[in-house]
Amino acid sequence: MTKPLLTRLAALPRTRVDFELDGMPCTGFDGDTVLTAVLAQGQRLRETEFSASPRAGFCLMGACQDCWMDSADGPRLRACSTPLQAGMRLLTRRLP
Ligand code: FES
Repeated sequence: MTKPLLTRLAALPRTRVDFELDGMPCTGFDGDTVLTAVLAQGQRLRETEFSASPRAGFCLMGACQDCWMDSADGPRLRACSTPLQAGMRLLTRRLP
């Protein structure tokens, strides 16, 4: 397994939030954005549709559009400005 891109520096007492990433069960914490929760699991949010290169966000403040992710449950979401919610089913690859 690859080392996550983000490392949590402090373990604060926060409620666990369970979600799925590419069908695998994962855990984040209350207050995480989708970007934080996903990059604490791995190294990418998605691959570009143009070159399949990995993307992990850029501005982290909702301006660059580099952090779009697919969800198995609905429309694409902007990972850096979307709060993690229990039961989300996130995808790093686009559905056909
Ligand atoms: S990282 Fe730039 S919009 Fe999300």
